[in-house]
Amino acid sequence: MATATIPPRPPLLRGRTVDVCVIGAGIAGLSAAYQLARAGKSVVVLDDGPIGGGQTGRTTAHLSHAMDVQFQAIRRLHGDEGARLAAESHTAAIDEIEKIASEEGIPCDFERVPGHLFVPRGASATELEREMEAAHAAGLSRVEMLPETPALAAEAGACLRFPRQAQFHPLRYLAGLAEAIERHGGAIFTHVHAEAVETRGATRRVKTRGRAGVTAGAVIAATNAPILGPQTIHAKQAAYLTYVIGARVPAGAVPHGLYWDTEDPYHYVRVQRRAPAAGSEILIVGGEDHKTGQADDGAKRYLALEEWARARFPMIEEVELRWSGQVMNSLDGLAFIGRASEDEPDVYLATGDTGMGMTHGTIAGMLLRDLVLRRDNPWRALYDPSRLILRALPGLVRENANVATRYADWVTPPEVSSVEEIAPGQGALLRRGLAKVAAYRDPEGRLHERSAVCPHLACIVAWNSAERTWDCPCHGSRFDAVGHVINGPANTNLAAAEGAQ
Ligand SMILES: Cc1cc2nc3c(=O)[nH]c(=O)nc-3n(C[C@H](O)[C@H](O)[C@H](O)COP(=O)(O)OP(=O)(O)OC[C@H]3O[C@@H](n4cnc5c(N)ncnc54)[C@H](O)[C@@H]3O)c2cc1C
Ligand code: FES
Repeated sequence: MATATIPPRPPLLRGRTVDVCVIGAGIAGLSAAYQLARAGKSVVVLDDGPIGGGQTGRTTAHLSHAMDVQFQAIRRLHGDEGARLAAESHTAAIDEIEKIASEEGIPCDFERVPGHLFVPRGASATELEREMEAAHAAGLSRVEMLPETPALAAEAGACLRFPRQAQFHPLRYLAGLAEAIERHGGAIFTHVHAEAVETRGATRRVKTRGRAGVTAGAVIAATNAPILGPQTIHAKQAAYLTYVIGARVPAGAVPHGLYWDTEDPYHYVRVQRRAPAAGSEILIVGGEDHKTGQADDGAKRYLALEEWARARFPMIEEVELRWSGQVMNSLDGLAFIGRASEDEPDVYLATGDTGMGMTHGTIAGMLLRDLVLRRDNPWRALYDPSRLILRALPGLVRENANVATRYADWVTPPEVSSVEEIAPGQGALLRRGLAKVAAYRDPEGRLHERSAVCPHLACIVAWNSAERTWDCPCHGSRFDAVGHVINGPANTNLAAAEGAQ
């Protein structure tokens, strides 16, 4: 976000009738819109923020076919054929990004680099051996073990090397993708909130907060967290916050590549180019994940990341950037892409990025294009949102038990007993009678009060002081400091607080 700007698009002032309406202008929505516009469909994209203003603007943009949950788990959960299709689809997604960037002339710093999964120095390489075997079984025969990890020899042990991974600048890619959609006849409207999708016979109507709506043959909700579809989809994924620092290093000091370790949560590293005149590059280091809304210690996590990074990359000069974002971890390791429900044949969703949203979003583009066009696609069943993988049940039970405990937040003591205790720029929960109130004092000292009850399924939101947001600990809905929804599954703002001051 600090190194790319995308020109805003107009608001939706009059109603439109098109073949396909896509809600969400992140990588998933724009990839789907691009594929469908290229296939000759009339397409409208709506986003309630700017293009790339969701998690795509916060990504670290590793483009990898090495599964985040590892191939051993994908094989156990989805079988040998499922693991093979997962490897095939993520490989195809990297190739597709490279092809689109080249065909559409998108200057997005796309670069092929090797990926390295490494263990800490002195740790056993057994896990890597098992993972190499699973990757080979999934068809990635060129994955190899190296005794030392390039660039990290002092602090890391052996690694698995995945050839032909890639990296790019995600917002520069989206900027080019948006222009390509428009060149192929599509239209993009920003700052338009989609409220609901109604089915009338063969058409669907996307209702927006304004008066104008969109009538479409098919609707794709590419909103990262799903704003439609069955409630069960929320039980099949869990929202996590992840933290990132961007540190200045001398140009050429760290070999370009993707690096990530076997810790839980793991660390992930790559280098972003700058203009040659800068003489420096940005080392991007992420990790320190926790369940959304269940910790408010961002400052400590940034420090821990910096300490970890400085111990391994002594060439770091200064940490220039710090940010966090949310990933939706699917409990069986793969995204949910396809029909939102059996009753709605032409309403589709893409969610459950599992930290691989660049490739999952690009897979969504290709797969949803084929579903809308009624073409066969070999990945359809693997990513079907209605799937229930019985082997994922232990994780499902664990995550949903964690959600159940959060309803106790209704009766926990307030964080402050009076609004006077809230400093400018901070938020806190207080109790007013039986109600819990989310109170925020802006930097000018004005107080903003909203109900602390999440409009999704009524958990109590928690203050996130690093991002100045209210985050729901149950399924990851997020609201800005004054209560506007910025992340689903909630699709409305925090309600007015009773007796607000
Ligand atoms: C710190 C971090 C690091 C990551 N690193 C990687 C990585 O290295 N590699 C990788 O592959 N993935 C990574 N991910 C994951 C990846 O960034 C995301 O999965 C991906 O960007 C999600 O794209 P999306 O299009 O699904 O969602 P988004 O980019 O969030 O787009 C959804 C859009 O929908 C809009 N929207 C939502 N509701 C509405 C509504 N009601 N009306 C209108 N518009 C609406 C939002 O405004 C938003 O613009 C990372 C994520 C984070 C946070
Ligand atoms: S996100 Fe489900 S209750 Fe808040």
